[in-house]
Amino acid sequence: MAPQRLTARPGAALKGRARAPGDKSISHRALILGAMARGETRISGLLEGDDVLHTAEAMRALGAAVERTGEGAWRVEGRGGLVEPADVIDCGNSGTGVRLMMGAVAGYAIGVGFTGDASLRGRPMMRVLRPLGEMGAAYVCREGGRLPLMLRGGALTGVAYRLPEPSAQVKSAVLLAGLNASGQTTVIEPEPTRDHTERMLRAFGAVVDVTDAADGRHIRLAGGQPLTGTAIDVPGDPSSAAFPLVAALVTPGSAVTIENVLLNPLRTGLFATLIEMGADLVIANRRDAGGEAVGDVTARHSSLTGVTVPAARAPSMIDEYPILAVAAAFADGQTTMLGLEELVVKESDRLALTVRGLSACGVVVEQVGATMSVRGAGGGNHRVRGGAQVATHGDHRIAMAHLVLGLAAEQPVSVDEPAMIATSFPGFEALMGGLGAAIEPA
Ligand code: S3P
Repeated sequence: MAPQRLTARPGAALKGRARAPGDKSISHRALILGAMARGETRISGLLEGDDVLHTAEAMRALGAAVERTGEGAWRVEGRGGLVEPADVIDCGNSGTGVRLMMGAVAGYAIGVGFTGDASLRGRPMMRVLRPLGEMGAAYVCREGGRLPLMLRGGALTGVAYRLPEPSAQVKSAVLLAGLNASGQTTVIEPEPTRDHTERMLRAFGAVVDVTDAADGRHIRLAGGQPLTGTAIDVPGDPSSAAFPLVAALVTPGSAVTIENVLLNPLRTGLFATLIEMGADLVIANRRDAGGEAVGDVTARHSSLTGVTVPAARAPSMIDEYPILAVAAAFADGQTTMLGLEELVVKESDRLALTVRGLSACGVVVEQVGATMSVRGAGGGNHRVRGGAQVATHGDHRIAMAHLVLGLAAEQPVSVDEPAMIATSFPGFEALMGGLGAAIEPA
C-alpha cells in the first residue's frame, strides 16, 4: 500500500551522483512514433513512470506490439499505421499522452475514445480538437472540450495553424495528424516550444522543414510520409533532475551531480535562471545523444539572489516554476516570474497551488494575474519556516517541490498523494535518499 503522506525532514547535506529518469516528453514520443512507423523501434532509457506506461498500453491497443525487454529497454513493432482499439483509451494523468495520441489517431479512419484520471478529465482539450477539427477530424466531447471524448479521424487536409498558446503538445498533435493528411501542414509558433517531435520525426525518416520568420517559427511537413522504425536513446529528464539539483542548491554543505541530463536549449530555462541567481551549477561532459544535447549537471549549495524571469522564457521552463519558486524562497531578495498563463492548466492550477503551498510554509509569495513573486528569506538558509502539510491535488511536481523545500527549511514538510510522484519520477524517494535526503512516509 502506498503511504498516505511523505515527509521531508531538514538537516542532512546532499552528496553524490545519480542518473535522472528518462525524459517524459521524449519517452511518449518514442512510443507513439514507434507505433505509427513500420518496423522495429528499440528504445533505451525509457521513463517507466505511470504516464508513459499508459501511453505504452495505448499503443498496444492501437495495434503495435510493445514489449519491455529490460530496465528502460523497450521494443515497439509498428504496423505503419494505427488500428481502431476495442475500448476507450485511458491516458491516466497524462496531458502529453492524450494530446499527442489525439493527433496521431486523427490521421487514420478509426474511431477512438479517450479518458483519463480526474485531473486529466478537468483539463482543456479544445486547444487540440480545434486544429484537428479544421483538418477534418470529427469529435464529441464533454462541455468545455473535456474528456472523455470520442475522435473519428481519416481523410484529413493539411492546414496552416498558428498556435494561440505556446504549447508543444498542440504543435505535436497537429504535426502528427499532418503526417497522414493530404497536402502540407504548417504549424507557426510565435514563441518556440520544445522541439522533440520535429527532431524525432526526422530520426524516423520524415522530412520536416523549420524556418524562423518575423512572425515566428514555421514548421512544415508534407502529408503521406512513411515512418520507419529506429533506435531511440532517451536522455535524463531535466524537469526531474531539477528537484535534486535545487535541493542541493538550497541545502547547506551539499554537492550533487545528476548525470545524462537532456540539455535541449528549449528545456534549459531553469538552469539559465538559477545561474543568473548565482547558483553554482556546472555542466560537464556535454555530448550529443541521438540528436539531443546531454551533459552531467553538478549543483553545490549556493547563495542565491532574486531575479526577474521574463515571460519569453516560460516555454523553456514551464514545468519548473514550482521548484524555481522553492529556490527563490531561499534567495536574497525578490524573484518575479512573468507570463505564467499556461501554469494554470497543468496537472493542477500550479500557480495557485505553489502560492498556497509556499505560504503555508511561511514564505511571502504573491500572485497578481499571471505573475508570481516570491520574497526570499535571504542570507542564512534556515529562515524558511516549513512546518506545513501541503495538499498537492494529485500533482507530482507540487509534491516534489514542497518536499525539496522541507529538506532545507526549519521544520519538516509533508505532502499528500505521494503515489502521484511516480507519474513522472518513479524512484524519487530512493534517489533522494541515496543522496542523503530524509524523505520518508509520514
Ligand atoms: C510537454 C509540453 C508541455 C509540458 C509537458 C510536456 C510535451 O505542455 O508542460 O509536461 O511533452 O510536449 P504544453 O504543451 O501544454 O505546454
